[in-house]
Amino acid sequence: MGKVDLTGRDFLTLKDFTSEEIEYLIDYAKELKDKKKKGERVDNYRGQNVALIFEKTSTRTRCSFEVAAHDLGMGSTYLDPKSSQIGKKESIADTARVLSGMFDGIEYRGFGQEIVEELAKYSKVPVWNGLTDEYHPTQMIADMLTIKEKFGKLKGIKLVYMGDARFNMGNSLMIACSKLGMDFVACTNKDYFPEKELVDLCLEYCKESGATVTLTEDVKVGTKDADVIYTDVWVSMGEPDNIWEERIKALLPYQVNKEAMSNAKQAAIFMHCLPAYHDLKTEVGREVFEKFGLSEIEVTNEVFESEQSVVFEEAENRMHSIKAIMAATLKPSV
Ligand code: CP
Ligand code: NVA
Repeated sequence: MGKVDLTGRDFLTLKDFTSEEIEYLIDYAKELKDKKKKGERVDNYRGQNVALIFEKTSTRTRCSFEVAAHDLGMGSTYLDPKSSQIGKKESIADTARVLSGMFDGIEYRGFGQEIVEELAKYSKVPVWNGLTDEYHPTQMIADMLTIKEKFGKLKGIKLVYMGDARFNMGNSLMIACSKLGMDFVACTNKDYFPEKELVDLCLEYCKESGATVTLTEDVKVGTKDADVIYTDVWVSMGEPDNIWEERIKALLPYQVNKEAMSNAKQAAIFMHCLPAYHDLKTEVGREVFEKFGLSEIEVTNEVFESEQSVVFEEAENRMHSIKAIMAATLKPSV
């Protein structure tokens, strides 16, 4: 596929990739998805093994790496948040050197971005970022694939992110959109706008791609004629529970509800990386309801369950895109 060659590369943040490389991964994910649907085998990475380190919990990312590794013919070893020596008894640098002697690639989900960067620095094999506080790059390939499948293009698509725009999802979407020629809007309380330094960097990407980046507190302006309305949880993994009150106060005006969706284009879609708090069927959802009387949080159940919601297709695309990222950065065995 073209002249893009990502063999041996780490996948830590989309800042490290050109728009051409990102587009290649999106199209490769689509190719692998089509092959999977047709039952075509892609197991030409037989005999290789990947380590999956999770210092935070996961459903989608873990399952995607495991299923994708299996489909590619590889073995996988899952290291859960508690049962390895990482960080407590063994440094990241030592862990990287131990694991890269046994495995062909390493996935890492954890806290600060500097940890996955350190792991990559000492690893001899590709390291893939499965989410840090700052970035969630594998999610971006799945999200952009989902948008491309729905609209047939990425350039010129207006994506509005509502909620906490200064954490992993807001940051990553702003980077992806600005590299791919899209119109990114962070529509939220100004205390939750992305950091100025990252905004400035993305404005540089915009000059090359024709994208735009807008920060607004005005829901009517922000959601006007949007193609995609995107949100994420208001309190992320690793943040303290006592922050809910402050978040609800600041972000409730930015809940994705019917009114926000009806201000977008008629063909607009709703996206969410998941997991989502849209009803009382989760422990956290019930706790928030008991304390604050809010039965749906970042998105209403009506929008989540609507025809416009593509969240489960988006979740499936995690697997196809993670498969593309692993296949592109590893060397096939056969
Ligand atoms: N979207 C996402 O990363 O989901 P998990 O936390 O379940 O992996
Ligand atoms: N912002 C969320 C994303 C989960 C996929 C978190 O970090 O918990």
